[in-house]
Amino acid sequence: MRILTDPAEVAAEARARRARGQRVGFVPTMGFLHAGHCSLMDLCRPRCDWLVVSIYVNPLQFGPTEDLERYPRDPEGDARQCEEHGVDAIFMPPRLYDPDHSTTVRVAELQDGLCGAARPGHFDGVTTVVARLFGLVQPEVAVFGEKDYQQLAVIRRMVRDLAMPVEVLGGPLVRDADGLALSSRNTYLSPAERARALSLHRALHRMRAVAAETDDVDVILTEGRALLDVDRLDYLEVRDGDDLRPLGRLRPSARAFVAGLVGRTRLIDNLGLAASP
Ligand code: PAF
Repeated sequence: MRILTDPAEVAAEARARRARGQRVGFVPTMGFLHAGHCSLMDLCRPRCDWLVVSIYVNPLQFGPTEDLERYPRDPEGDARQCEEHGVDAIFMPPRLYDPDHSTTVRVAELQDGLCGAARPGHFDGVTTVVARLFGLVQPEVAVFGEKDYQQLAVIRRMVRDLAMPVEVLGGPLVRDADGLALSSRNTYLSPAERARALSLHRALHRMRAVAAETDDVDVILTEGRALLDVDRLDYLEVRDGDDLRPLGRLRPSARAFVAGLVGRTRLIDNLGLAASP
């Protein structure tokens, strides 16, 4: 497995692979990898000849009061996990943007609510970095986790609207044995906070159980909200899982979305409300 740090080098290597008829697969990450990331690598591995994982904590997607400075890092652990999951190259640039970088990629509407409302500018940072990474790595296939469900929808829309020649796949959310959605940010949680963080998952499951009895979204939301034990609720919503439209009545594609702060840690989760999501 190679470690590439120079954007020009990863672009040249990807070009050479494609010229030899190889398919390039790509899993973009911000590092501090866990089993969720590994499942994305496993999804991508059989679909490509050359699998690249990027590790880059992208400053453009963090707000001024967010955790950019303390975002967890573990380059050795990341390299070990990549090696174990058959990754061919890690791309970890110390710097990704030119000093006079001037372009922002913005996907309107889909980023208006949910995390887009709670984190202004966040998705502009995500789409800008993913567009730049796609330009360098030129993958035929790229995999993103469904834990960041809105992010996945925004990236799919960017790829469609800009006719980027890449197939985007979503990897199912991975949970710890107790149900907590895996996230690099879980490492911030104290044991007491971690216990409270489970309320997100419990609320979503309660909502799914209630959804089997009624199609009234207000009733479903009320039942879920009652179980939440967070310090700040950013949102609890039911939306269409296909186009993220808010729903008043259930439909088969309905999905529940939640985000909030437990202590200083912002957590998100989502669950399909049909019996098998
Ligand atoms: O999901 C993430 O880890 C990041 O948002 C991504 C897609 C790597 C862009 O920085």
